[in-house]
Amino acid sequence: MVYAASRGDVPVRLGPSVKNVPDYGPSTMSVECYRDPVQFELEREKVLTKSWLVACRTEQIPNPGDWHSYEGHGETVVMVRQPDGSVAAFHNVCMHRGPSFVPEWSGCGARRFTCPYHGWVYDTTGKLVGLPERQDFSEEHLRDVRAPAVAAEEWGGFVWINMAGPGNCVSLREWIGEEILADLGQFKMEDMVLHDLIEWDVPVSYKAIVDGFNEIYHTIELHHVSPEFVRSARDTSFIILDRDLHTEQGPRPTNYMCFVPRPDTRDQLAEDWDHHKYAICHYVVFPNTVFNCNPEHIQVFNPIPIDVDRTKFLTWQLIYPGDRNDPEYEKYFQRMSKHWEGLKVVVGEDIGIYQQLKRTKRSSAYQQHILSERECKLAHYHEQMAKLISS
Ligand code: FES
Ligand SMILES: [Fe+2]
Repeated sequence: MVYAASRGDVPVRLGPSVKNVPDYGPSTMSVECYRDPVQFELEREKVLTKSWLVACRTEQIPNPGDWHSYEGHGETVVMVRQPDGSVAAFHNVCMHRGPSFVPEWSGCGARRFTCPYHGWVYDTTGKLVGLPERQDFSEEHLRDVRAPAVAAEEWGGFVWINMAGPGNCVSLREWIGEEILADLGQFKMEDMVLHDLIEWDVPVSYKAIVDGFNEIYHTIELHHVSPEFVRSARDTSFIILDRDLHTEQGPRPTNYMCFVPRPDTRDQLAEDWDHHKYAICHYVVFPNTVFNCNPEHIQVFNPIPIDVDRTKFLTWQLIYPGDRNDPEYEKYFQRMSKHWEGLKVVVGEDIGIYQQLKRTKRSSAYQQHILSERECKLAHYHEQMAKLISS
């Protein structure tokens, strides 16, 4: 039987008692943040290497010694399942002379990793455990050498990493925050399976892609949604989960939620404000993880910065597992596959806009954005990024 998410005890997010647009108001913002290489370097230093980032699915490294790689904003990291079930992560940089010492992107059952250049040997936590012709080196130079550790935790069936390193950042759960843990947690992503993962090479900033998921305004023109959807979407609730940005353990940014009533279930919603059943539920975990949830399936949009104006844009499709010999499940599977094909077309429309943004990204005429009050999550996101890089 396929699980269907339902609200349970989590707060009502839609309805007459809920304020659906925060007191943020219309605003404007400069567009330098999308193209300034100096700002990108600051983001690398102060945000991207201090944030919890989605790195792979738990199911991609099920057994001890299984590993998977992450690459983004110039960093290369390997996550390895440990014998005790935890995940260790480390920078994939040989401490001898610098190449990646785990050449393959993923694999299973590793007990050691040997650098292909001169044969330095590392354990599955990234610690140097041996090297040829050791007598020629200074023992002092070799003391406690390891590929720098990266913090790794699991939630929602994903392995997340934080390059600040273990003990140097807030926990993943604190980063995501109680409200999203409870609300998004209802979907039980840890029980879901990866149906498909697609990757686009996009010629704009990762933040321009996050922007597209922080508003629904563009769906009218770009995605040609139905008039019923447009009417229904006017009742969307936008939520900015404001909190103190700084803690002793490091930054802890504000995240965002958004609930879009589905036009086909308006009547049910009016009787029972169960947003998990009757709305599209949307969560943005700063800085680049976006969850788009429907009762039967979830997409995770993950624009990984490569450079100031280049992004590896991943979309993960998750569905509930089952036996395809069971006719009920097979019907569900076919329904999900059909929906996924349609959704890829929609994302393709977004990619089309990024191509148009590529044409203007250096234009002298492109100076500012004029934002509506319903684009407040987008405005708040950039305001928060500016605060983080200036602190
Ligand atoms: S560079 Fe890795 S062993 Fe020399
Ligand atoms: Fe879109």
